[in-house]
Amino acid sequence: MTVKEEIDALRAELDTHNYNYYVLNAPTIGDREFDEMMRRLQDLEAAHPEYFDPASPSQRVGSDLTDDFVQVLHARPMLSLANTYSRSEVEDFYRRVEQGLGGEPFEICCELKFDGLSISLIYEEGRLVRAVTRGDGVHGDDVTANVRTIRSIPLTLRGEGWPDDFEIRGEVLMPWESFERLNAEREQNEEPLFANPRNAASGTLKLQNSREVARRRLDAYLYYLLADPLPSDGHYENLQTARTWGFKVSGDMRLCRSLDEVMAFISHWDTARQNLPVATDGVVLKVNSVRQQERLGYTAKVPRWAIAYKFKAEQALTRLSSVTYQVGRQGTVTPVANFDAVPLSGTIVRRATLHNDDFVQALDLHIGDMVYVEKGGEIIPKITAVDTDSRTMMLGDKVRMVSRCPECGTPLVRYEGEAAWYCPNDSGCPPQLKGRIEHFVSRKAMNIDGLGGETVDLLWRAGLVHDAADLYQLRAADVARLPRMGQKSALNIVHGIAASRDVPFDRVLFAIGIRFVGETVAKTLATAFRSMDAVAAARLDDLVAVTEIGEKIAQSVIRFFADQRNRTLVERLREAGLQFALSEATAADAPVSDVLAGKSIVISGVFQHHSRDEYKALIERHGGTNVSSISSRTSFILAGENMGPAKREKAAALGIPLVSEEEFLRAIGAIDN
Ligand code: IVH
Repeated sequence: MTVKEEIDALRAELDTHNYNYYVLNAPTIGDREFDEMMRRLQDLEAAHPEYFDPASPSQRVGSDLTDDFVQVLHARPMLSLANTYSRSEVEDFYRRVEQGLGGEPFEICCELKFDGLSISLIYEEGRLVRAVTRGDGVHGDDVTANVRTIRSIPLTLRGEGWPDDFEIRGEVLMPWESFERLNAEREQNEEPLFANPRNAASGTLKLQNSREVARRRLDAYLYYLLADPLPSDGHYENLQTARTWGFKVSGDMRLCRSLDEVMAFISHWDTARQNLPVATDGVVLKVNSVRQQERLGYTAKVPRWAIAYKFKAEQALTRLSSVTYQVGRQGTVTPVANFDAVPLSGTIVRRATLHNDDFVQALDLHIGDMVYVEKGGEIIPKITAVDTDSRTMMLGDKVRMVSRCPECGTPLVRYEGEAAWYCPNDSGCPPQLKGRIEHFVSRKAMNIDGLGGETVDLLWRAGLVHDAADLYQLRAADVARLPRMGQKSALNIVHGIAASRDVPFDRVLFAIGIRFVGETVAKTLATAFRSMDAVAAARLDDLVAVTEIGEKIAQSVIRFFADQRNRTLVERLREAGLQFALSEATAADAPVSDVLAGKSIVISGVFQHHSRDEYKALIERHGGTNVSSISSRTSFILAGENMGPAKREKAAALGIPLVSEEEFLRAIGAIDN
């Protein structure tokens, strides 16, 4: 077998296994075997770049390369659907169709309405060539690199009979399982949680790092085939055909011949959807015959041949059994409701956050109350109401905020203007100390291989580490003595810790856990001050002079370095050999002028001379700030071609000037006047 033949064979085999696993949900080999095969393919491809193919299954792992989203025009606008929450409007729709078709018999294809974000996929000669988001319906973002990582989307088609070039539309989703894993991870890193799988899917698809996209495990269902000619006049039949080409088409579709059948479909899924692995928010009803669809046509905005019936937010009624209090790494004490387990939107829920004391008081909660728990698209379950009618004379204890820390007993404090209560014992409260170490080792901070929350917990319990600096004193022999820890993993951890000495300064600054200094702020501070000493010595004025650093962050930085205990920790980290200054390479990215100082700039449209990323970098290097959405604070819009109409209108309404590419380049002195 030649190398090319082996590559082709591996690609075909891996494609089949992906299809079995992600589309059919019926894997025929184990993960390990799959990984080995993939590794072999990657090795061969690396050794033979001449056989590179963007449709290779190896491309699904994504890459760290950032690539800007280019806006593309949809061949046919992506319309949305008329929505209704009422069954009588579904009946009205049915009657309108009857009338519009002049009494001709018709069928309605009933489908689930998947709650993700719509995507348009373009295939040419059996290969995925482009994936575009809905955008404003007319133009969307080209997110092909990210979409390639979605295993249920075929990169090359299977079966036969597919048109040479066609479009298929569907929904990109984050399954509940992936969503929960992602949020758990974010909670651990104290990153903001995604409110629901839709936001998570859309945030993920817009990432500039397709490797991270691949890690987050998106899925996709396809529900609309656009081709000329179509395989059949029936929409349902066309989708069944598309399934034979390798697309994931929902099995939960039904052709209905009467209004009663349509209503029965709606009633069934109103509750049955709770057991689906993905979020749905309604059903979509479509006239099945494409010929009849054309006859019915469109209004200015939506098709007359389809309608979406939306379900009411899912609710469950359950009994509040207790309220516990969780202490975060910054000392925030959050009340958590524990209730009898109930199924809700595909998962079993037992707990919901009660946010803060104000929220608890507003609900007037008592232990034993029957409470309504809702997800309604928002995943973090929340208690929306108390069923006061079901209260008996035996009212349970009123839920009150604790006055002392549940972990260390210190009296709690509340800062002015904040709803949260804090445990001020930041140098002795175990979850705070442990939480800070967990944060320090986390992926976005020092990213220490082999060290996660669980191991930190073990190290902590064994008394081997009390703070982040202790990690650098660990010896493999000590670690190996921990329960369930082998020699090899122990070595791995110690090596991981040693390797973290090379982690760049901005991430060290993030890792030390200064309140309000997240990943981005840490980068900003690192770029502005260049070294730990300079950050530590900065005065309030110096800090707030940096764009994007406000008073709150500045105060927090000063407070951090004013504390002797933090200074000691920082000194010990310096002795451990961590990066305490920007490296030469990064220092080269430092500002070159301040002509854009104080300016908030939105980039929009398609450009001739530089990519969007390059413009972003140029703005920053000339002292400006790139912001993503237009507001009254926007200084100007760097406007390329084909800027979206919505942005254009908003800019006009707020009187924000548009600056052309050439004008901008002239302003920063990149081209002559
Ligand atoms: S058909 C012209 N089918 O709902 C018909 N849409 O409110 C185009 N959606 O933008 C859409 N599940 O993102 C269709 N089975 C389904 C759907 C579906 C979810 C989304 C889609 C669309 C929105 C319309």
